[in-house]
Amino acid sequence: MRLLLCACTALSIAVACAEPPATDPVARGRQVYRSLDCGRCHQIAGEGARFAPELTHIGTVAATRVPGVAAEAYIRESIVSPSAYVVPGYPDVMPHGFQLGLSPADLDALVTYLTSLR
Ligand code: HEC
Repeated sequence: MRLLLCACTALSIAVACAEPPATDPVARGRQVYRSLDCGRCHQIAGEGARFAPELTHIGTVAATRVPGVAAEAYIRESIVSPSAYVVPGYPDVMPHGFQLGLSPADLDALVTYLTSLR
């Protein structure tokens, strides 16, 4: 039964089906990142597309984007309000509303995961 349910793993649509939700926020955030398929535009450590800015060191980069805005706050805003700040050289095309399908805890975990990428 579990094997059947997990047939969708290959399509990477529902990470919840591939593995149980992690309790560690960074590990959970990584699962959320994968389940939302952020990698169809972004690359982390060589994995994913290069259409959008690479996120391999986003925890460090984010602290430099907007004066006075800390990394975590910048990353959260990039997800819930992608047009608030548009990275120079990139089009303003990041989809809006990713947070709408997430629980507050999962959104926090996603932000924590990305902030941890230094
Ligand atoms: C359709 C392509 C696309 C998808 C899917 C996408 N993004 Fe983006 N994202 C972009 C583009 C293009 C930019 C740069 C322009 C901008 O700042 O809006 C960006 C910017 C960002 C930034 C700021 C990067 C920086 O260097 O300042 C973060 C953080 C980010 N995205 C996270 C995510 C996360 C997390 C997801 C999945 C929930 C995601 N993105 C999904 C296209 C995408």
